Amino acid sequence: MDKYIIKGKRRLSGEVEISGAKNAAVAIIPAVILSDEPCVLENVPNISDVSISLKILYELGAQIEYINDTTIKIDATQIKDTVVPYELAKLMRASYYFLGTLFGKYKKARVSMPGGCYLGDRPIDQHIKAFVSLGATAALDHGMVDITADEISGTSIFFDMVTVGATINTILAACRGTGLTVIENAAREPQIVDVANFLNSMGAEIMGAGTDVIKIRGVNALHGTTYSIIPDQIEAGTFMVAAAATGGDVIIKNVIPKHLEPITNRLAKIGVNIEEFDDSIRVTCEGPFVKTNIKTAPHPGFPTDMQPLIATLLCFAEGASIITEDIFDDRFRYVDELRRMGAEISVDGKVAVIDGVGELLGAPVSAPDLRAGAALIVAGLAAKGVTEIENIQFVERGYEDIVFKLRSLGAEIEKVEVITDVTLNSQKIVNG
Ligand code: EPU
Repeated sequence: MDKYIIKGKRRLSGEVEISGAKNAAVAIIPAVILSDEPCVLENVPNISDVSISLKILYELGAQIEYINDTTIKIDATQIKDTVVPYELAKLMRASYYFLGTLFGKYKKARVSMPGGCYLGDRPIDQHIKAFVSLGATAALDHGMVDITADEISGTSIFFDMVTVGATINTILAACRGTGLTVIENAAREPQIVDVANFLNSMGAEIMGAGTDVIKIRGVNALHGTTYSIIPDQIEAGTFMVAAAATGGDVIIKNVIPKHLEPITNRLAKIGVNIEEFDDSIRVTCEGPFVKTNIKTAPHPGFPTDMQPLIATLLCFAEGASIITEDIFDDRFRYVDELRRMGAEISVDGKVAVIDGVGELLGAPVSAPDLRAGAALIVAGLAAKGVTEIENIQFVERGYEDIVFKLRSLGAEIEKVEVITDVTLNSQKIVNG
C-alpha cells in the first residue's frame, strides 16, 4: 500500500549511476543452474524481480551469498528440485527462464505459467515450440508447464515473431545439449548478448548473439565464472526522459551508449541535447519539444519499454504526435492516468495520438505496470503541483532506489506508507 508523493516542477541536475539491467539479471540468475561450479555475479540490481529470482533459486536448493550490495555468489550445484510452483512463478514474467535452465541441465522442468505485468496477451507458445524442437515432450497440466526429454538434440528453429524470452530460453535449453542448434529470426536485444557472454564465459559455445541468427553448439559441462551484468538501458532511458521533461542537466553514469542509441536518436530528434562519453551521457534540455511519430519495434528499433515514457514527454511537445505500439496488445493503460493530469491523448487499438498540452497538473494516479509507473513519476516530476502515485510495487520490480536517485538530482519525491486502519495516523514517510 506504499505510494510516491511528488512535488513537481523541480529541475533535475547532477549525476546518477545506473544499476545492472533487470532483463539481463532475471535471465542470468537462473542460468547459474547450468553451471557445474559456483558463479559470482557482479552489478546485480537490487530490485524485487531479482529478489524473486533468488528466492526461486534458493527454494530449488541453491546457496546464495551476498559478497557486497551488488555482488552475489551462487552455488546451484546441489539443486534438489525441478519444480517452480504457482506461488513463486506468478510473481514475475521471467520465471519462464527456470523452464529453460532446469530443462537444459536436468532434462526436466515443471514451472507454473509465469505472471508479470499485464500488457495484453503474453503467450509462451514459441518457448514451447523451441523446447519440443529440441526433443522435449511438453504438456500444460493444472496451470503447470511440464517438459521432459531423454536427450536435448541440436535443431533448427525459426520463430514466428521476434521474441526476447523465447530466444533466451532456447539458448539456455540448448547450450548443454548435443549438436548444433540454429535460431533464426532471433531477438537482438542487449540482454541476449549478455546472457550469451555469461554462458560463453562458463565454456558454452554460442555464436551470433546480437544478430538474428544465433548458433549454439552443445557442450558437456560448464565451469564457474565471475561475470558483471550490463547496465540497464531502460533505467538509463527513464532518467534521460526525466532530465528532459524537467528541463534538466543530468550526467547518467555506468551506461553503454551504444545500447542507448534507439532512445538517444529519438530524443535528439525531438529536441533533447545528448552528449556521449565512454560510459556516461549528459542530457540537457531547454525545450520546446518537437512532435514526432514513433512505432515500437524489436531492437534496434524503439523499445516498447520506453513507449509510456516517451509518450509522457510528448505531452509537452508542440502539436500532435502519434505512437504505434507494435509489440504488445494492451500497453496504453497508463493513458487514463495521464489524462487525470491534463494530458490529451486518444487511443485507438495500437495507436495513440498525443496532443501537446504544454503543462500537466499534479493529481492522484495509479501505476498499471512497471514502465507505466515510471512514466507517471516523470509526469509528476514535470507537472505543476502534487502527484500521488499508488501501486508502486510495480515500479520497485525494476528500478533500484528510484526515490534516492531522483532526490539526489533535486527532485521532491517521497515514498509514503499508507496505513489503511483509519484510527491510525494515515501516512508515514518510509523512504526519504
Ligand atoms: N510472444 C508470443 N509467443 C511467445 C513469446 C512472445 O506470441 O512465445 C509475443 C508477445 O506476446 C509479444 C511479442 O511476442 O507480443 C514479444 O514478446 P517477448 O517474448 O519479446 O517479450 P517477453 O520476453 O515477454 C521481454 C521483457 C519485457 C520487454 C519485452 C520486449 C523480460 C522479463 N521481459 O518480455 O520487459 O518489454 O521482452 O522487449 O525480459 C519490462 O521490463 O517492463 C518488460 C515488460
